[in-house]
Amino acid sequence: MSAPIDPEKNTAKSTATVACNNSPHNATTNPVQYLDPKSQSRRDFIQGTGVAVVASATLGGVSFESARAASPDTPSATLTPIAITINGQVHQLQVDARWTLVEVLRDQLNLTGTKIGCDRSECGACTVLMNGKAVYACSQLAVWADGADVLTVEGLAQNGNLSPLQQAFVDHNGPQCGFCTSGQLMSATALLQNSPSPDANQVRAALVGNLCRCSNYMAIVEAVVATGAVTGAAVAGKPDTPRRGLSV
Ligand code: FES
Ligand code: FES
Repeated sequence: MSAPIDPEKNTAKSTATVACNNSPHNATTNPVQYLDPKSQSRRDFIQGTGVAVVASATLGGVSFESARAASPDTPSATLTPIAITINGQVHQLQVDARWTLVEVLRDQLNLTGTKIGCDRSECGACTVLMNGKAVYACSQLAVWADGADVLTVEGLAQNGNLSPLQQAFVDHNGPQCGFCTSGQLMSATALLQNSPSPDANQVRAALVGNLCRCSNYMAIVEAVVATGAVTGAAVAGKPDTPRRGLSV
């Protein structure tokens, strides 16, 4: 049973800032037994440091900030059963109302390809697709994802083969340090699903919510445009364009 909240209202373009001063992963109180939780997360480290951030929207009665503001010592009565389809596999989970989607992905399911950068809806490192839309997983409570279809970067490759977009990132040197790459890939995947052959300006607009501290934007845009030039042509039934190492 999920909280009555529309997760699609909190998208990757959200400007929401969130309160995040309590760890959901206290090693001694974490009640989730679904998978072995990691013994320590970044949130454990910052717990108690008084990271106070202004909260924003309340959606449908349970706000992000109120859920996150609950004491880490609160008994596990707040655990909620949810079912999320992640990369095509259904996961039945018991989640604390305070946990964000990215925390569940990383700490409960070991899907660490989704990164946590700012943890406050600013950098895009945590971007995943939820029901086909790019969202910041750091700003989605896990309970909001009940019943959702989530795609993470781990779901892009098929049968051991990189997706055309991933291969284009390799070919065009899209990753530098690579920390933003998974988020860039997911936003670009969303774009290509809706606009198969975007031009550079469309790519820039679609990726505006994904920051790259290495400032490798030109290569990233080039990679996405190159992918669309091949896969978009295939979708449209047009003669193929030079493939630049891509496999559609
Ligand atoms: S936007 Fe989620 S970690 Fe930065
Ligand atoms: S490649 Fe380093 S932050 Fe983007």
